[in-house]
Amino acid sequence: MILDIIKSRRTQRHFSDKPVPEEYVEKILEAASWAPSSCNMQLLGLIRVTDHALRQKLVYEAKSAGEAARAPVLFVATYDKRFSQEYHSNIQSGAAAIQNMVLAAESLGLGAYWAASVGKEKIVRSIFKIPERREILALVMFGWPDKKPPPPRRRSPAEFVHNNFYDGSRDLPLSGDPDDWPIEQLKAFQEFRVWSGAKYRPYLNEEFAAVLNSIKTHAPRDAKEWIDFLPSTGAYLEGLVKLFPRARFKILEIADQLARFSIERVGGVGKPENSIGYANYNFAGAEGKADAVSCLFRLEAYPTNLHEKMLEDLSSLVKPGGTLILGICNKFSYFLPLHRFKARRKKEIRFPVMTPQMVAPFNPVDPEWALGILKKSGFSLKVRECLFLFPAIEELTPYYSKSPPLFFILFVKATKLFSKVMPRLIWRKYAKIQLFFLRKEENGRPSGIS
Ligand SMILES: Cc1cc2nc3c(=O)[nH]c(=O)nc-3n(C[C@H](O)[C@H](O)[C@H](O)COP(=O)(O)O)c2cc1C
Repeated sequence: MILDIIKSRRTQRHFSDKPVPEEYVEKILEAASWAPSSCNMQLLGLIRVTDHALRQKLVYEAKSAGEAARAPVLFVATYDKRFSQEYHSNIQSGAAAIQNMVLAAESLGLGAYWAASVGKEKIVRSIFKIPERREILALVMFGWPDKKPPPPRRRSPAEFVHNNFYDGSRDLPLSGDPDDWPIEQLKAFQEFRVWSGAKYRPYLNEEFAAVLNSIKTHAPRDAKEWIDFLPSTGAYLEGLVKLFPRARFKILEIADQLARFSIERVGGVGKPENSIGYANYNFAGAEGKADAVSCLFRLEAYPTNLHEKMLEDLSSLVKPGGTLILGICNKFSYFLPLHRFKARRKKEIRFPVMTPQMVAPFNPVDPEWALGILKKSGFSLKVRECLFLFPAIEELTPYYSKSPPLFFILFVKATKLFSKVMPRLIWRKYAKIQLFFLRKEENGRPSGIS
């Protein structure tokens, strides 16, 4: 039944090294040729790339999806732009052919990776000698799946089918501010997005390393029970598990597929006793048990009216004498203006760049406010780390750039020198990353959850 094939198909971002028999490739191409096309023009053009050097150029010079360097079968899909422009029929025709190929591959037991992120278009054109008259649609890769990913959450037809008239009230807000989102939509959106390659997306390495380094220095080395609160893409969790091999990690997430993503990401890292337990964000029984609880830049992803409740929940997880590690992206830092400036040049919504890459709306928070709430619920501040008074070079450079312009490099160097002489007060007020290491007092006021 075709529906079974449609449903079992997954985007396969990694393949095993096993070669794909030529007969299978022929079948896939036959499927492409039988796709419908606008006016039956059949203007698809597929470049089969077998040359290793060309693939290297595609990945390292054009900055396309990395798997293109090693996928057993790789096509660059193009379509003639001169016809069928109306209604984007040319792109629709190309997409129909690609979908046919992908489904044919699935029926043969092969995996497929359809990636629109071909990289820098001009470079791709010159590498493969693609004339201007052709639209570059996507890279389409095939191979044997090394491990099939679980199915990401799907929207149900009730969410996208409209009766007679379009009901705009059901649209996702798609704004960068969590305050604009109903919580159920926020959950669902994160579930859709986290599985769409979150693990492979680049992020700010310098920021990531600085945060982990700070936690390595200041978190209790002997923590046995550790809860990471809302790990989202699990990037920090992955780092923590490696840094604290003696701790037993658990996570709390608000949605099933988010939790599964982090667990899968971290699974297999470190020793077997690091296996991650899972509780949905309904944690009756988890209160007051953890030696360490981390919440890294996650308040920012939820509506402001939930922040106080989230902080209370966090507090309640820590056992007396235990440590709470709270990472805040400071609302008074350069972060938001820089993001707004960058976003102005894009025609579509882009979530800000953070570590890990944001998969949903994100709004920086007032660190003093969060600290005040935690102090009131029986915590004392042990260490406060303030990082990045000015942006790291990666934050100023589009991620696909080969190397940042010299001007940026000099500017960032100058800001680094300048920030060294800035007084502590300025760092506290304006640094982007604020990390609090708080101790729950033995006799502190117990903070319950409502
Ligand atoms: C037009 C199109 C472009 C896509 N481009 C990319 C891409 O550039 N990189 C990537 O990792 N996945 C890409 N994908 C795959 C989607 O992320 C994926 O289909 C989605 O997350 C749902 O997962 P599933 O295909 O496993 O069901 C693309 C899919 C389509 C249809």
